[in-house]
Amino acid sequence: MMSLLFAIALNCVFVTSQIAAEENGVVSYEGFQLWKIKPNSEGDRQFILDIKDEYELELWNERRLARDPMDVLVPPQSQTGLKFKLAEHKISYVVVISNLQTAIDNQKTNVNRTTSNSKAAYNMDWISYHRLIDIYNFMTYLNTTYPKLVQLTQIGTSYEKRPLYVLRISNSSSPGTRPAIWIDGGFHAREWISPAVATYIIQQLVEVPANAKLSANVDWYIMPVVNPDGYEYTHTTNRMWRKTRSVSSTSTCRGVDPNRNFGYMWGGMGASTNPCDETYRGPKAFSEPETLATSNFITGKSSQIKLYLTLHSYGQYALVPYGYDVVYPSDYNELLALANAAASKFVKYRYTVGNSADLLYAAAGGSDDWAKSIGIKYSYTFELPDTGANGFTLPPSAILPVCQDFFPALDVFATKVATCCGAAATTTAKSLTTTRPATTTKPKPTTTTTKRTTTKCPCTCG
Ligand SMILES: *[C@@H]1O[C@H](CO)[C@@H](O)[C@H](O)[C@H]1NC(C)=O
Ligand SMILES: *[C@@H]1O[C@H](CO)[C@@H](O)[C@H](O)[C@H]1NC(C)=O
Ligand SMILES: *[C@@H]1O[C@H](CO)[C@@H](O)[C@H](O)[C@H]1NC(C)=O
Ligand SMILES: [Zn+2]
Repeated sequence: MMSLLFAIALNCVFVTSQIAAEENGVVSYEGFQLWKIKPNSEGDRQFILDIKDEYELELWNERRLARDPMDVLVPPQSQTGLKFKLAEHKISYVVVISNLQTAIDNQKTNVNRTTSNSKAAYNMDWISYHRLIDIYNFMTYLNTTYPKLVQLTQIGTSYEKRPLYVLRISNSSSPGTRPAIWIDGGFHAREWISPAVATYIIQQLVEVPANAKLSANVDWYIMPVVNPDGYEYTHTTNRMWRKTRSVSSTSTCRGVDPNRNFGYMWGGMGASTNPCDETYRGPKAFSEPETLATSNFITGKSSQIKLYLTLHSYGQYALVPYGYDVVYPSDYNELLALANAAASKFVKYRYTVGNSADLLYAAAGGSDDWAKSIGIKYSYTFELPDTGANGFTLPPSAILPVCQDFFPALDVFATKVATCCGAAATTTAKSLTTTRPATTTKPKPTTTTTKRTTTKCPCTCG
């Protein structure tokens, strides 16, 4: 009993010490450094993991290939000790961010630039990071201004009662019947570039006439902020917050990792049972109102949605399922080929295309695995820039370049979905059927179009 109490007490002290100093209720990262540590071997890598808690380190690489260096956040009080420890083990490192708080402050430089511009129809731009209100007002504006093209739907409410919005873009005369592409962002609160890219995609698809061809044969469902509570918390209180903001019934630590909370292989590898961990899976699958509402909406449209794309940062990876273990879906090569075709569009930022088999750690309960499991053929996680020079504190000057570099990949996705899953596939199938000489003396009535479609497609989404 004594030792149990002692263990609990120790644990509490330990957890408290990991939290950066708070000033006026805002968490300060003054003096915190990001180190890129280069293990020479698997043993070195394990060594870093073993001393992680002792030195109060936080690993920043979300998904990491075996050969990658380790991005490690080092608090001021651990820097001297860790330096000697690494030297002792002949492990090299470079300091990539010498003061995280300065990098955080630099992300806010352009924040108010356009709010003073009374000519703009909305406060949203892609030269600064924006609060949730700007993102939501932007979507509401589009919903009002382009009623024939845009439909904004509230699909639920977050833990702290913020609305969860999905914006549909469809120029179809009967929206909701064509094949569709789903894009989401803002799962992880601190990955600010993710909602920025998702909102940029919305702006381009809705407001730029030259991009109308992208909506010629497919509908788009875009949810830029899946975790609005966490997103706001990174703006008001702790820039490095990752999870949701739900209160635990068993711990004082808050939040669940929404990308470990989905109901396919939930609770498997790489998902923590500890509410204080960044990868806490939650008390059960879909315990979070955000993941529940998102999954319910997607499930309701699962016959229409053919491609699931979730935007995270950072690392510049295009990731193909599965992530829960070293398991490949049977159509893995098709998924990989499409990911490669999309990634080949990137010019400024090169992405590594990989899959769980190449990853050191499995991560169960991810939304990409779940989307694949419910029959959405193409399912991807993209880890947006950069590769670690700035990490989560990507400067505002990089937002537009990242967005512009990413956007052309959507043409690859839209073309594939339209060709294999939609109207174009139907046309191809029809022409294949009609140009073939009749082989039967008993002509079928014209109502067999659907049957032809399913049998003669050059590729399918089945
Ligand atoms: C942005 O505007 C708000 C409200 O007007 C103000 O409190 C804040 O200091 C401004 N931020 C910057 C970076 O200028
Ligand atoms: C979007 O606009 C439609 C009218 O075109 C309206 O019925 C709907 O409530 C709006 N959505 C939101 C979330 O405001
Ligand atoms: C949708 O956009 C495409 C591409 O501009 C166009 O060909 C098509 O006619 C449009 N459909 C409707 C219903 O506006
Ligand atoms: Zn993420």
